[in-house]
Amino acid sequence: MSGIEQARTWIEQARSVAILTGAGISAESGIPTFRGTGGLWRNHRPEDLATPEAFARDCLLVWEWYDQRRQWIAKAAPNPGHFAIARLQRSKPGCTLITQNVDGLHDRAGSAGILKLHGDIWRLRCTTCRAEWPDRRAPLPRLPPKCQCGGIARPGVVWFGEDLPPGAWSSAQEAAQSVETLLVVGTSAVVYPAASLIPLARAAGATVVEVNTEETPASTAAHCCLRGLSGEILPALIPVPPDS
Ligand code: OAD
Repeated sequence: MSGIEQARTWIEQARSVAILTGAGISAESGIPTFRGTGGLWRNHRPEDLATPEAFARDCLLVWEWYDQRRQWIAKAAPNPGHFAIARLQRSKPGCTLITQNVDGLHDRAGSAGILKLHGDIWRLRCTTCRAEWPDRRAPLPRLPPKCQCGGIARPGVVWFGEDLPPGAWSSAQEAAQSVETLLVVGTSAVVYPAASLIPLARAAGATVVEVNTEETPASTAAHCCLRGLSGEILPALIPVPPDS
């Protein structure tokens, strides 16, 4: 049995499946990943921009980077990998999608109940009064954007050193500890605590399948590593049902 056939059987037979996605699933939609080629923006590393300290030091620079990412994402569309995951969610009630991505492409592919560990780039939050609101304009007309109260707004994402949204994080931990199969897609698995879900699931007895173009620290915890593009592997793993 090939790796794909084996993984497909595990997914089909599992009563519950969780999927953890990272930037790699959106790479084929044209959105640059954080650590791959093209990960640098104007010679800045994401880790140096996505922090409260960077925002406090130079909120305009940080906003220019997020505004650029918002423009890339606005031009992008979900790819066959996103659609395959949405299909799996529809066919399997006990299926939890956990993402580190803030791009909203899973939503646009039809996924529901997504546990967004790192927030949502299409939401803004006031640094003064904490009000939060959606804003899909790209580019934003003025940087930094302001709240009605006059305070400076920040992207509605989680930065390095900040806590994950507590509800999403506890649901993700619960899922990791209870699923039969965990599918890990397009993540370098180096950013914690999200990456800790992989050994957590493995320790709790889940079968772990990794889909990635490259080896990662998660590869050693995986029972099966499928090397290649998620936009090609996921549709093969989760085929369109014959009657649709
Ligand atoms: P990374 O950019 O660190 O990793 C992307 C992964 O996707 C790499 O392991 C690539 O090998 C893989 N990859 C690239 N193209 C692929 C494709 N077409 N198919 C399958 N795999 C592919 O992205 P994340 O792991 O998501 O956090 O990064 C985690 C977090 O670090 C992000 O959520 C963000 C970032 O800084 C915050 O901003 C807090």
